[in-house]
Amino acid sequence: MAGVPLHLPTIAPMSDGPQRVLTEHGELTLEQIADLLPGTGEIMQSVGNAWWKCAYAARGGNWELAAYFARRVRGLQRKLSIVRPKYSGDLAAFEAEHVAAVLAACERKDRGAFDRSFDLAVDAANALHAKWGKSYIRWTLPAEPPRDLELSEG
Ligand code: HEM
Repeated sequence: MAGVPLHLPTIAPMSDGPQRVLTEHGELTLEQIADLLPGTGEIMQSVGNAWWKCAYAARGGNWELAAYFARRVRGLQRKLSIVRPKYSGDLAAFEAEHVAAVLAACERKDRGAFDRSFDLAVDAANALHAKWGKSYIRWTLPAEPPRDLELSEG
């Protein structure tokens, strides 16, 4: 649109002090922007939500939805590895051992294998919470299924 000023962020030259991004609202350093990325608590809240929906999708027989949520957990945890590299080893091992087993059970539509691998994954996640000094964070499956999604087979 001609004549409408665009307020595109620009990156200031590196020479004087930390690199700054100029927005229409003001200046932010790259460090400030990095600090504003979702942290472990925010990402884990989303992980817990997706994990809950994964379980109930499998119980309802909507295996594609269950697999979708297992992949959501995998994607969220890969993002966490980037913003908090100290967890990357544990997250990679959790993905290879537990998320992969849950996904494989979804692909085979195998409810018995799903329940076993899901329970093992929850135990492993809670052991990792304890390892990282948060033994009081014990994830548990909510008794209520989510109400915003069709959980039965299509
Ligand atoms: C499906 C598996 C997992 C579930 C359902 C889960 C769930 C949760 C939940 C609900 C929280 C509390 C979030 C909040 O503050 O509201 C949390 C925190 C946390 N989780 Fe997990 N988690 C899982 C796997 C993992 C794994 C693999 C790690 C690897 C290191 C991990 C490390 C942590 C840590 C360090 C916190 C504390 C957050 C903080 O320091 O702010 N979790 N998790």
